[in-house]
Amino acid sequence: MTLKRVEPSVFVILGATGDLTKRKLVPALFRLRKYVDPGTRTFVLGVGRKPELDDDAFRAWLKEAVAETGEAEDGIDQWIDQHVRYHCMEETDVSSCRSLGERLGALEEEQDLPGNRSFYLSLPPSRFVPTIEALGESGLAQSPGWTHLVVEKPFGRDLASAQALNRTVHRWYDESQIYRIDHYLGKETVQNLLVFRLANAIFESLWNRSHVESVQILVAEELGVETRAGYYDKTGALRDMVQNHLAQLVSLVAMEVPATIDAESIRYEKIKVLRSMSTPSATDVVFGQYGPGENGSGPDAGYLDEPGVGVASTTETYVSLRLAVDSWRWQGVPFYVRTGKRLPKRLTQIAVTFRQPPVCLFESMGSCLLHSNVLLITLQPDEGFALYFDVKAPGEPLDLRTLPLSFRYEDAFEKIPDAYETLLRDILEGDQTLFVHSDEVEASWKLFEPLLGGDREVHRYPAGSWGPEEATRHFVRGAPETLQPASG
Ligand code: BG6
Repeated sequence: MTLKRVEPSVFVILGATGDLTKRKLVPALFRLRKYVDPGTRTFVLGVGRKPELDDDAFRAWLKEAVAETGEAEDGIDQWIDQHVRYHCMEETDVSSCRSLGERLGALEEEQDLPGNRSFYLSLPPSRFVPTIEALGESGLAQSPGWTHLVVEKPFGRDLASAQALNRTVHRWYDESQIYRIDHYLGKETVQNLLVFRLANAIFESLWNRSHVESVQILVAEELGVETRAGYYDKTGALRDMVQNHLAQLVSLVAMEVPATIDAESIRYEKIKVLRSMSTPSATDVVFGQYGPGENGSGPDAGYLDEPGVGVASTTETYVSLRLAVDSWRWQGVPFYVRTGKRLPKRLTQIAVTFRQPPVCLFESMGSCLLHSNVLLITLQPDEGFALYFDVKAPGEPLDLRTLPLSFRYEDAFEKIPDAYETLLRDILEGDQTLFVHSDEVEASWKLFEPLLGGDREVHRYPAGSWGPEEATRHFVRGAPETLQPASG
């Protein structure tokens, strides 16, 4: 596959000495070279504040850093030598940004590039606004070719800050230049949700309140807060996962069929979903925080004992919500959404539970033997689909068993690209479909912001368990084992 639309450009990473550059961005840009027309060149200009680095020292650091992450592949060192440069500056300073513009101009002239530029803000969120202002003031929001601005999450920490950030962005850039990252949208299986729904008539015709009883979305993480307490303790699971990743998953599952498969139509339908939900009431939300517990290989510290966490922190590491989408399609169908850290395993699943037949014809000793049909979409790990249905167990007495008809990506395809590979390709191609629109961000904050403050109870759960007992009221009977964590 050759992507003809990718034009030569410079990919400027602001905050280039951070983790993301070595773990995700540079390995992804390297892998993308194979899809790109051989005449097309993408240069990387890493921008950082370390004066001790120059081009050579940055490249040497980068090669070693990429190797340490385990992301190195044959040829990446040579690619780094040929395509990567370093520029030291304070990114929030207007005159430094002007010098950056001169450096870019010189690089483009030297390499005969047309002046297309992406600016990737891989920075702490507190630096987003001053950096965007400095880029804008210095004239870098426009360039001789196209200019794309890429903003990492979190996009604001509440509605007011997200609106303020959007205002700053829009002061200098048109919405068509903005790429707000939610890496869940780059996951192959998440994108496949659309193909699955819209390319297969059998599913789309059942995708509504007449046939669906409930939808459950689980994003379970085995890891705890690790070394990120500085960020996480001020953030919590609602801001870190629900407002963005889970809201996006709900939108993709619940959206109406778009007129066409382009960024504008898809984003329009996703925004409608967010706007048709209302903030859940207190009884429909359960917050949790992990306490000490056990994993298979030994004890796990509780959240309060993690390095950098405040002694009396009430930050939630778990959220379970019952959401309602007030649309013709979904009226009365609950969407149970939950996520947590230090759960028994890493698992992201969507389960669509279908209604049972109106009359039960198969009974044993007065009780109905039917189980609900469930469509289980596993987004990670072990990506795939399974449709559970009832079959007769051989012999007598009559017994029904639920068995899956399933498909695993691993069995059918070679390798699933990393989300960043997909997202960076789209940034270079100018395709905004998998990026979040300003209206989506604001609609999502409107929905979840009321849950951030106030007197909320945060329940303890042991590390390595499926979350607080109080959340069991959000679990659906009849779902496959992994989605009934109350019992597992
Ligand atoms: C990030 C969150 O956005 O997503 C992390 O900040 C979380 O806290 C991560 O661990 C989960 O991503 P994935 O791709 O591993 O499911």
